[in-house]
Amino acid sequence: MADHAFVTLATNDSYAKGALVLGSSLRKNTSKKLVMLITPQVSDSMRKVLNKVYDVVRLVDVLDSEDSAHLALMERPELGVTLTKLHCWTLTEYTKCVFMDADTLVLENIDDLFEREELSAAPDPGWPDCFNSGVFVFQPSLDTYNQLLQLAREKGSFDGGDQGLLNTFFSTWSTKDIHKHLPFIYNLSSVSIYSYVPAFKAFGASAKVVHFLGKVKPWNYTYDSKTRTVKGDVHDQTVTHPEFLNLWWDTYTSRILPLLTEHGVVKDVSTGLKAEEVTEAMSQMSIAAPPLLPSISSEERRERWEQGQVDYMGADSYENIKKKLDTYLQ
Ligand code: UDP
Ligand code: GLC
Ligand code: MN
Repeated sequence: MADHAFVTLATNDSYAKGALVLGSSLRKNTSKKLVMLITPQVSDSMRKVLNKVYDVVRLVDVLDSEDSAHLALMERPELGVTLTKLHCWTLTEYTKCVFMDADTLVLENIDDLFEREELSAAPDPGWPDCFNSGVFVFQPSLDTYNQLLQLAREKGSFDGGDQGLLNTFFSTWSTKDIHKHLPFIYNLSSVSIYSYVPAFKAFGASAKVVHFLGKVKPWNYTYDSKTRTVKGDVHDQTVTHPEFLNLWWDTYTSRILPLLTEHGVVKDVSTGLKAEEVTEAMSQMSIAAPPLLPSISSEERRERWEQGQVDYMGADSYENIKKKLDTYLQ
């Protein structure tokens, strides 16, 4: 339906890289409209690239406008930045939308989310009675937007960002209607992988959306051409379980980097990836796992996965990712 859209946000070029990978993963899996909210800090060249992936790129203010001047946020600019997400409620040309953080990655079609009502979201892995605001179904409405701003002005947000505010506003989420609880596989946070490994082993293969929640984002990793690995803390779960990180990098190097290079955006060093290192970055993806073993059928793979016979650092892990990569690269 034309009045449905997936929406994301980036206030700078780094998050825009995440948004491009997300947009590319959405394009692979849906024909819904893709809408991007940006703020003035996003560079002109980056905007050109965003326009190649997103149907609509809309410029919005960081919430430091007249409207939000009374928000206590004024003294804490970083809060203003995450509250910029609230602008998604102003997209009233759509009847229903799904907001997705720029640090999410779509693995499968998730159009069924549009059958859900506002506000549907998955539990937050840190406090499951709260929903995580990295993926949520909502209904654009200026009335709701204004109510949210009013709440921000009057009460503020208990976590300083949109998630605290939204959980206060949609306070019956955890108790009233189970249909508003999205299955966790629609917002599988990388944090949960290591905090509940057996569950990840049992259900991880069904993940539809991965969320790189936390301080270190995929685009922050540096590819080290000497050690031929992605640099990172060994305790970092995305390095211990690099499958999704590799998938992010695959999408980035194969689909996004050519666009960024073409438009001269690539000089940003935040990824640590120079154009000539692309080939190495591609090989990095296979370095994290042993060489490909003879392939098994996807049924067999799923069966093994379900029986817990999965070596995450081994061939099964790579096979599983390979399957998804093949779909992407076709
Ligand atoms: N965001 C942004 N610029 C920022 C911080 C956040 O555009 O400086 C947007 C972006 O869409 C991001 C979302 O707000 O995905 C939420 O922030 P983040 O994903 O960093 O929070 P986390 O999920 O790690 O708690
Ligand atoms: C969370 C969410 C993120 C949100 C942030 C600030 O951890 O993942 O989407 O922007 O909190 O509230
Ligand atoms: Mn996030």
